[in-house]
Amino acid sequence: MEYILKMDQIDKSFNGVKVLDNVSFRLKRGQVHALVGGNGAGKSTLMKILTGVYMRDAGIVEVDDEKVNFNGYRDASNAGIRMIYQELSIIPTLSVAENIFLNQEKTNGKMFLDEKGMLKAAKELLDSFDINISPKTVVNTLGVGYCQLIEIAKALSKEAKVLVMDEPTASLSESEVVILFDIIRRLKEKGVSIIYISHRMNEILKIADEVTVLRDGKNVITAAGNDLNIEAIINHMMGEQVESVFEWQERHYNGSNEKLLEVNGLEVNECIRDVSFFINKGEVLGFAGLMGSGRTEIVESIFGIRGRCKGELIIDRQKVVIKDVQNAIDAGLALVPEDRRRQGLILMHSVKQNITLPLLKRLRKGILLDDKKASTLTKESVSSFNIKTSGIGKEARLLSGGNQQKIVIAKWLKTEPKVLLLDEPTAGIDVGAKGEIINLIRNFADQGNGVVLISSELAELMAVCDRILVLNKGKITGQILREEIKSEEVIQHAIQK
Ligand SMILES: Nc1ncnc2c1ncn2[C@@H]1O[C@H](COP(=O)(O)OP(=O)(O)OP(=O)(O)O)[C@@H](O)[C@H]1O
Ligand SMILES: [Mg+2]
Repeated sequence: MEYILKMDQIDKSFNGVKVLDNVSFRLKRGQVHALVGGNGAGKSTLMKILTGVYMRDAGIVEVDDEKVNFNGYRDASNAGIRMIYQELSIIPTLSVAENIFLNQEKTNGKMFLDEKGMLKAAKELLDSFDINISPKTVVNTLGVGYCQLIEIAKALSKEAKVLVMDEPTASLSESEVVILFDIIRRLKEKGVSIIYISHRMNEILKIADEVTVLRDGKNVITAAGNDLNIEAIINHMMGEQVESVFEWQERHYNGSNEKLLEVNGLEVNECIRDVSFFINKGEVLGFAGLMGSGRTEIVESIFGIRGRCKGELIIDRQKVVIKDVQNAIDAGLALVPEDRRRQGLILMHSVKQNITLPLLKRLRKGILLDDKKASTLTKESVSSFNIKTSGIGKEARLLSGGNQQKIVIAKWLKTEPKVLLLDEPTAGIDVGAKGEIINLIRNFADQGNGVVLISSELAELMAVCDRILVLNKGKITGQILREEIKSEEVIQHAIQK
């Protein structure tokens, strides 16, 4: 009875392409077992087989030493196996409480929804996780970070034996991760066994008792967390490609004092008032802050997503008025949004359609589209970003989470903007590709362009930014210059102040 879960010799193919090849994974009772691997390695697929979302082609799954064949998530959930999905399952038009109890609505007697009971239970649940929002809040008014916390609360609204967390911290900042780790510790004490998927290597070593590495759909190694270090894990993950892994090197910024973008007196809503800042040509400007500090709202409003906002915008000494996204693109702006699945991609469209979408003007050939050129441009992006797909015609929704992210970044870089607004660009991206993306950001700035970088990973801000602005509740509360960015603590301290 040492193992609560055994998955042995699992095979899975999609349309003849094998994505899991004889994979085994065993989870010990009351332990945290990390599942790691590059984008497209098969982590989410393996977990979807466990939770009955996908059927396996071969192999055995045993829970509590009994063979199981779950037919859909509900089946797995009833057996105490719960999963926090990478592609959040939250429904934006419903309230927090409705989302938490979706498909397991409380009834009053038997007939009516017990709304009061649901609100009360939701409130208790949120409180127990220190999540400070009203259960009545409609979810589409909240940022991705909160959605992630709600997703976690939802998974824990019923007793779980095994909890699968597929990149639960992708949009959480350091202090929110601390809350999550506290929850994980409490769950462990209660005997819940946890499978933890993450691309943040430092998290894995902090939390995992055991680590299993997958590469290209195959087992590489399973070892105790204590017997591994970050380097070893990365080596197992990337295999031969290891030389492409990013080292956090200082960027030597020889930027000009010529202003590229000026924002004066930006007002977005009651929270964000009178925000002013600038970016010089060649500069990477970081935004640091906690969830709800207004970082996303600021870049979204500059990019015209929130319609016309109060305030002045100057790009390359020209005053510009931005009423919508097309105005923003024409003015030389591009935004890689935080919520890439909802805002960045058309999931039913192909990789090619997604990458060329903002380029339609450029690809026009008479009244037709230059399809050959579109294919060439797409193939360039697929290779420079190392996007794992069986073809450029594959629907975006069928790619792994990290590869979907890469499409969004590739697509906006192809528009050749002057200012690139990046909201958590490396969330969910594996360590190899992270390095590639950070190099792309640097090269882009080196050509005299400007970048705004929002990141919850302080190490990343430190590594790429020439200057960091600290935001708190919609106001700029501090500025840290390149030469002052000596350690993560400096930034952490500024954020907490
Ligand atoms: N429904 C599907 N149809 C076709 N291919 C699929 C489907 N689901 C997953 N795949 C493919 O299976 C492979 C593994 O994907 P998976 O989502 O398991 O990767 P992952 O390890 O979770 O990666 P990431 O870190 O990017 O989330 C990918 O190449 C993906 O394109
Ligand atoms: Mg995944």
